[in-house]
Amino acid sequence: MESHKRVKVSELLKRDPGAEVLAKGWVRTKRGNKNICFVALNDGSTVKNIQIVFDLSVFNEESLKEVTTGACIAVTGNLVASVGSGQSVEIQAKEIKVLGSADPDTYPLQKKGHSLEFLREIGHLRPRTNTFGCVFRIRHSMAFAIHKFFNEKGFFYLHTPIITASDAEGAGAMFQVTTLDISNPPRKEDGSIDYSQDFFGKSANLTVSGQLEGELAALALGDIYTFGPTFRAENSNTPRHLSEFWMIEPEMAFYEIKDNMDLAEEFIKYLVQYALDNCMDDLQFLNDMFDKELIERLKSVVSTEFVRLPYTQGVEILMNSGQKFEYPVSWGTDLQSEHERYLVEKHFMKPVILTDYPKDIKAFYMKQNDDGKTVRAMDILFPKIGEIIGGSQREESLEKLERRIDELKMERETLWWYVETRKFGSAPHSGFGLGFERLLLFVTGMANIRDVIPFPRAPKNAEF
Ligand code: 4AD
Ligand code: MG
Repeated sequence: MESHKRVKVSELLKRDPGAEVLAKGWVRTKRGNKNICFVALNDGSTVKNIQIVFDLSVFNEESLKEVTTGACIAVTGNLVASVGSGQSVEIQAKEIKVLGSADPDTYPLQKKGHSLEFLREIGHLRPRTNTFGCVFRIRHSMAFAIHKFFNEKGFFYLHTPIITASDAEGAGAMFQVTTLDISNPPRKEDGSIDYSQDFFGKSANLTVSGQLEGELAALALGDIYTFGPTFRAENSNTPRHLSEFWMIEPEMAFYEIKDNMDLAEEFIKYLVQYALDNCMDDLQFLNDMFDKELIERLKSVVSTEFVRLPYTQGVEILMNSGQKFEYPVSWGTDLQSEHERYLVEKHFMKPVILTDYPKDIKAFYMKQNDDGKTVRAMDILFPKIGEIIGGSQREESLEKLERRIDELKMERETLWWYVETRKFGSAPHSGFGLGFERLLLFVTGMANIRDVIPFPRAPKNAEF
């Protein structure tokens, strides 16, 4: 057995029959009669299994006793043309070694068709299922395609810090990072906590966005992007929110809002097309098992032009829709997912880019329009998801930026370095953030964001 190098199942299934091979993987099913035994083996390289055939005149039942669902085995044998349907080749076993048995009485993935809710409770084993194998392979492909897209366009991948002392979105929902003894922190005379004694000499938290640092780099390197973990401590228990998610944030010098929208639309279409070109086996499985319209929906997004619409007109459409919403809409309110989905799924029936939101519901850094009421924001709304991208042109005027920071009563001191870019060689620039898991919800057709990240972090949920 040791004389062979293990060949992955994805590779075996492409080979012509003939040679002796070594396969390693986990048993999915075992069936047969008293003459012959068939094992479906999966090694994660593809959703497809390779069939291993054991001739029971060569192998006795005893030697196959530990070959049960979930067990890990190594098998050598000849790769032969398969007579059965469903596969072109199979392995006629000559030798087998059980690398790790799996007790049939306690292995939780015995039968097929466990609910996604149950599988979330066994996050350590769910990668062994077809569904999560598909999702995580697609996740990998999308991460790779993101780097490929930007590299081909001459963007530089910038690593922004995970620990920061600023609140980029001004939303205040941050996880604190501290080494102070929280049961007895040092206090100042006024009773407040003395963060000068903390590890960083100031209060620090996990980043909610790499954008502010991204802007610094864009105003030096031109076009950059970040792609990293992002943390939000909002108590949002929804199928679209995570406390720890991954975000891609490109930031481009000399881009105005229209260039920003063009790039965002091209980017999403590129990623969806990449999935269609490179992940078809996995998409087909998810299409058949969960969402019969998945592949059609992906194809349609690639070929449609996204609608571009000012927020004000979007609100008018919603107010005239005659639709009863749980949260009523009026100019100035933030759109809820029900509103976003109405526009995308019922009214336009395609992705919508909403622009020029009221300044009071958007972050301080967005470029202010001349009307004094709106900012040059752009959110991309997607079918089944709602907001998938949030972005804007940035305020490049020092004076307007400082005025906005003061209006919002934000601390100028913690943002001094950001503001200085507007003092020295400021330039028009724009960027956006794509929620990686929101993209994956769309591409995989999964309905809950906890099912597109290997180990989800959500309120009251940090197992595994
Ligand atoms: O709209 P957001 O908050 O924008 C920013 O953070 C900007 N700094 C981006 C930029 O302009 N560079 O977040 C951007 C995207 C959202 O559109 C959504 O897709 C995703 O990040 N997102 C979340 N995904 C999962 N769970 C959460 N709690 C999310 N919050 C935002
Ligand atoms: Mg947003």
